[in-house]
Amino acid sequence: MRILVIGSGGREHALCWAIAASPLCDKLFCAPGNAGIAGEAECVPIAATDAARIEQFCRAERIDFVVVGPEQPLVDGLVDRLEAAGIAAFGPGRAAAALEGSKGFAKDFCARHGIPTAAYRRFGDAEGARAYVDETHRRSGGAPLVIKADGLAAGKGVTIARSRGEAHAAVEAAMVDGRFGAAGAELVIEEFLEGEEASFFALVDGAHALALAGAQDHKAVGEGDTGANTGGMGAYSPAPCLTPVIEAEVMARIIRPTVAGMAAEGRPFKGVLFAGLMLTDSGPKLIEYNVRFGDPECQVLMMRLKSDLLPALLAARDGVLRDFDLRWRAEAALCVVMAAKGYPGEPLKGTEIRGLGDAAHDDAVTIFHAGTRAAGGRILADGGRVLGVTALGRDVAEAQRRAYAAVDRIRWPEGFCRRDIGWRALRRG
Ligand code: AMP
Ligand code: GLY
Repeated sequence: MRILVIGSGGREHALCWAIAASPLCDKLFCAPGNAGIAGEAECVPIAATDAARIEQFCRAERIDFVVVGPEQPLVDGLVDRLEAAGIAAFGPGRAAAALEGSKGFAKDFCARHGIPTAAYRRFGDAEGARAYVDETHRRSGGAPLVIKADGLAAGKGVTIARSRGEAHAAVEAAMVDGRFGAAGAELVIEEFLEGEEASFFALVDGAHALALAGAQDHKAVGEGDTGANTGGMGAYSPAPCLTPVIEAEVMARIIRPTVAGMAAEGRPFKGVLFAGLMLTDSGPKLIEYNVRFGDPECQVLMMRLKSDLLPALLAARDGVLRDFDLRWRAEAALCVVMAAKGYPGEPLKGTEIRGLGDAAHDDAVTIFHAGTRAAGGRILADGGRVLGVTALGRDVAEAQRRAYAAVDRIRWPEGFCRRDIGWRALRRG
């Protein structure tokens, strides 16, 4: 088969790495890809959001199957466009991608189908939002409030407001200053949930869901999970907090009702359903839906997947996942993200990264590129998150040791990483 992967991050490198290993894959392209992906696929300089050129490329190159990595093209309807042109594509269509594309839609959907999530209200104007902040503040005695831009905001649209003043500032930034553009024209304000966060993934074919392995990521930029929020500074799988009992509960109370509810509403969901969870004292609750693999969670899932990924993606697209099964390694995988100094603000670009070959010497280690470009045989940083140094091990502790041993061989003074990826799993012993 001739396959095209859409995207340019660490997630897409991991997907290309897995797909390139499939005996079904004859030729792999990636648009636009990066310097690491170029080792697995032929990179083509087409932006992930340029649907017209992607369709044109698929026709010209007789592409059999397109795998869409990031959320923006899914929310924009790339899969609908390709399927309408007779090109098979993996991922939800626009109507189903609204689970991630509109937080308000997702919350109303949860309410309609009894899916456990934080109590919330939606607002289309600043005045109503301000009044609600004041009212809840009085009622709750100052519990934190979570203020979310309705649309896609590259992971920056959520504020945990610990005071009334912070809540007002968040409403102001989104609705008056327009910090998130159209994505912030509507807000969801919700109750703050306490607990441990986990990422749960299921492959869905419109009617059936197949649970994938669980994972946890570290969103904060600083050690001890402090500082600004990022796309994710590291991840590991399995996540010890996702016990088999909790996984069964998540499937029964969140994933299956979501798949059934979307089908019943005429928006059948196909692709990867990624539930961001809060494991609260009263059971797992949904923080948010994503309609794609997580990044860097995908990197650890692909390292642990023993089965061929490609037939599973095809089965999801074809609606025949019911009898499908996937095998996972018993070992743990852990990914340390190396970012360019300045991230998540303005990352330093164009600095040279050396020692990658040496670092990947250990067979248990794979270095996924997230933001790199090649220039005359050199590898240069070209983004915020730049590398995902990923290792397998008997347990999270061994995977962590191997990943950091590889990190320490990478010579890149302008980069940084957290040194405590996996601490929650290790604390549990
Ligand atoms: P999201 O973009 O919705 O995943 O939100 C980003 C992060 O904000 C999440 O990973 C959580 O750490 C945090 N968050 C979002 N909603 C809540 C909530 N209702 N209670 C507590 N934390 C939340
Ligand atoms: N790592 C979280 C995400 O991909 O949204």
